[in-house]
Amino acid sequence: MLLNKIEKKLGLYIHIPFCLKKCNYCDFLSFSNISNQKIQEYVKYLCEEIKIYSEYSYDTIYFGGGTPSLLNPKLIEKILLEIKNWKIAKEITIEINPGTISIKELEALKEIGINRLSIGIQSFDPTTLEVLGRIHTREKSLELYHSAREVGFKNISLDLMFATPGQTKEELENDLKEIFKLNPEHFSIYSLSWEKGTPFYKKLLAGELSETDEELESEMFEMIILKAKENGYTQYEVSNFSKKGYESEHNKKYWKNSEYVGVGVGASGYLNGVRYKNSEIIEEYYKKLDLLELPMFEEEIQNEKTIKEYYYMMGLRLLEEGVIPYVEDEEKFEKMREQGFLNKKNKNYTLTKKGLFLANDVIIELL
Ligand SMILES: C[S@@+](CC[C@H](N)C(=O)[O-])C[C@H]1O[C@@H](n2cnc3c(N)ncnc32)[C@H](O)[C@@H]1O
Ligand code: SF4
Repeated sequence: MLLNKIEKKLGLYIHIPFCLKKCNYCDFLSFSNISNQKIQEYVKYLCEEIKIYSEYSYDTIYFGGGTPSLLNPKLIEKILLEIKNWKIAKEITIEINPGTISIKELEALKEIGINRLSIGIQSFDPTTLEVLGRIHTREKSLELYHSAREVGFKNISLDLMFATPGQTKEELENDLKEIFKLNPEHFSIYSLSWEKGTPFYKKLLAGELSETDEELESEMFEMIILKAKENGYTQYEVSNFSKKGYESEHNKKYWKNSEYVGVGVGASGYLNGVRYKNSEIIEEYYKKLDLLELPMFEEEIQNEKTIKEYYYMMGLRLLEEGVIPYVEDEEKFEKMREQGFLNKKNKNYTLTKKGLFLANDVIIELL
């Protein structure tokens, strides 16, 4: 891919592919049992890759994983220093896991300029945490949240899941109560997805675990939406809720189909009309960078059709803004509106409550 300088501000996603231990449900690209030396080596290559994109400016930066909080704050700073003009970024987020970071390290992150935390809570319920294979207790999650506040973080998101094996509505309600008691600026809550190759999936095939009944999952989702609203949160995206003015600016770039740079092993990006994915094999990723090449293994040049598909697919997830249909699709959108799946406000179509519960089906119908 040729890199052209573009003036507009981009998002930068930085993938940190290390975890202390893999969770039972997760198929994100991350490696466990990694030495400090290997982490340092990875950061060195990350910096090399960032240099290749040195022409670009970013207004949002996102350290995701994996577990970025496994990196010493000095390494986070080293990465940031590699980014030209990084101080102009208005939102710099880091995902942190309870049990991987001390209050001193939180202070250091704040000092460096990180201004948004996304804390991987998943659940506050001790049994669920154990089933999920998380390394932390509910107490560690609470301790981390309060430490982050003590240190002065003013933009905190909590990351949870629901419809986990055996979870009841009461357990979900308790999780929601805990969120509202803590009063973060933002939270996301995704229903469990059963990913091939994970211990959960194997247990599902062996009949040792079962998926949550669809009706129960819908009732749970409805409860989340209702309780979030009662507690002053706007559901601005299907699974993301925020207080006024605290939407995730970085993630909104994905939903709005804006271009962004992704760096790190397995990271995806969208730049100059090309969607790309970096190699998922760490040795290959290093090898390409040693040759001063972009470490991509997949590139998809966007055309009118794919641009439109991504726009509908991602844009309809934004519940307040939605999408403006292309002329040739207006009839299809109108039909879905008449059937009660879409609302129309000015030129924009958004999912109705009925459409929200069948979001994937509605989107497929429109493609
Ligand atoms: C890949 S993790 C990275 C953040 C951090 N390592 C953590 O675990 O908290 C980002 C989020 O993806 C979500 N996630 C991962 N696997 C999932 C799955 N199979 N189904 C639903 N959500 C999942 C979790 O909510 C998690 O917080
Ligand atoms: S959920 Fe987070 S901590 Fe668990 S394996 Fe996935 S990336 Fe690592």
